Amino acid sequence: MCGIVGYVGKKNAIPYLIQGLRKLEYRGYDSAGIAYLDNNKIEIKKTVGRISDLEKIVNINIPTNIGIGHTRWATHGKVNNTNSHPHQVGDITIVHNGILENYQELKNELLKLGYKFKTETDTEVLCAYIDYEYKNSSTKDMVEIFNNCFKVFKGSYAVTIMVASISDKIFVMKKDNPLVIGIGESENYIASDVSAFISNTCKFIYLEDMQIGIVSSSDVSIYQENKLINNDIKTINIDDVGNGKEEYEHYMLKEIYEQSNLIEKLNSIYLNSNLDDFDISKYTSIHIIGCGTAYHAGLIGKYLMEKYNDFEINVYIASEYRYQKIFVNDKTLVIAVSQSGETADTLACLKRVKKCGCDTLGIVNVKNSTIARIVDRVIYTMAGQEIAVASTKAYTSQIYIFSLLALKIGISKGVINKEDITSYYNELPQLINNVLNINYDRVVKKIFNNEYLFYLGRNIDYVSVMEGSLKIKEISYIHSEAYQGGELKHGTISLIEKDSCVISLVSNEETSAKIISNIKEVKARGAYVILIIKDSLNINIDINCYDQMIIIPSVHELIQPILNIIPLQLIAYYVAKKRGCDIDKPRNLAKSVTVE
Ligand code: G6P
Repeated sequence: MCGIVGYVGKKNAIPYLIQGLRKLEYRGYDSAGIAYLDNNKIEIKKTVGRISDLEKIVNINIPTNIGIGHTRWATHGKVNNTNSHPHQVGDITIVHNGILENYQELKNELLKLGYKFKTETDTEVLCAYIDYEYKNSSTKDMVEIFNNCFKVFKGSYAVTIMVASISDKIFVMKKDNPLVIGIGESENYIASDVSAFISNTCKFIYLEDMQIGIVSSSDVSIYQENKLINNDIKTINIDDVGNGKEEYEHYMLKEIYEQSNLIEKLNSIYLNSNLDDFDISKYTSIHIIGCGTAYHAGLIGKYLMEKYNDFEINVYIASEYRYQKIFVNDKTLVIAVSQSGETADTLACLKRVKKCGCDTLGIVNVKNSTIARIVDRVIYTMAGQEIAVASTKAYTSQIYIFSLLALKIGISKGVINKEDITSYYNELPQLINNVLNINYDRVVKKIFNNEYLFYLGRNIDYVSVMEGSLKIKEISYIHSEAYQGGELKHGTISLIEKDSCVISLVSNEETSAKIISNIKEVKARGAYVILIIKDSLNINIDINCYDQMIIIPSVHELIQPILNIIPLQLIAYYVAKKRGCDIDKPRNLAKSVTVE
């Protein structure tokens, strides 16, 4: 979702702004723009489209050493040049990530005061309001001005501004949206996340909520209310931010292929484990929250942990949980699952449950992200930077962590020994490689032209097919639905006709015979069935009940879901590729969803 960059230093700012915006492309956007000082005047260049389109309208040789930039993912107002950022009203030029919720109210007031608006955005109102405060300030003290704005603005906002008469400083303020300041030598950077400037500096400061930053080439001053404060300077290892695509055509494919090494790495970090100091047995209820793929990982977590646990574990979509009635107390553990650690809804849930006295655990990929910083305890998923919008390796690492939590519960109940299972974890990387090497061409050829697909599963396999179905929707734009095998006949089977394509996963021992019956039901109605099936199931498969079969290896049930997802990821990838889709940056989607 929207990305912010800023540069002030001794060098030419424009190449840094463009480079930074490129690094933030993975977040998802539909337009881009920059503002910079040119001959004492703030110039704005912006356009709908990609950074490459922006480059066509920008002269990177203009000698300027201060500027701000933005990738917009439209929320208020259409995707067009006018609505894209930066916006300028009076003395203020702004880029903004978030949503100003009371923008209509403020707009009405500002209209009465004579302000005129050119765009449909909340950001232009935010900009006009800051200009209004600036014009009415006798001291022109930006800390005081921003503090006045904090009292008025409702919603979430990471704001970066340039002021017309101030040629050497960039000003920032934030609430509920990430903003980070990179510290260089005689130059400083601003960005939504460190990846934007990591190739130039690995030192940075996180701006916390309700803080204000004044950034010049030689100084970064952070204020909370009216006090100058010292935020810790952190450092990041460049390896944490990942390399390029290497020989892979897309980041998504690279990330799918990285999963085998990732499991090896997680085994070495966690298997003999530093999760031992985490006492999960003291809780009497567990709630898991997340969005999208992270929510699916949470559902897998529920199935795995409930195998050994003696109370039900509930999983919630964060955007619902933040407003619904919840039943929690100080014996509730709330587990937030998030790749980015910045998802607005997940974050809001955590803030809510912390007020209720719950303990919180984050299963998070991005180190030092907001969620990682606010939870009581964080388990990092160590997947490295995930660039493709469709999550793959982050999901695998999340369900890996859940398998270890389940194992921990099983060990504490005396129903499983670690020794019994270690060898399965150790053989998992090789088994992943085996699944990566399966040829999916025939499946892809059959389904890539379909208008719709059905995915079927039962029990924990149902969760895997939900994730498989999400993957194909996200990147190939084929409409698909995931169903529990037993539920199909309560409505959806009416949609099955000759050649309807049904992909079914069969790995769960308890329900394998049942799902095969469901598959026969769709086959009897003319469906084309692709079966993804575990090799060691003790059932007879009638060769007439499927059209194609993909056989995957068996492993311990705690980690079988890791193997199960890989064919589904690869099918989605190859189908999207055959359809010519923009795989790493699917339309309308954002990697890091920082607004609700
Ligand atoms: C977006 C991404 C998904 C991701 C979801 C949750 O929708 O496109 O891939 O699963 O957000 O993100 P999180 O960073 O909290 O895991």
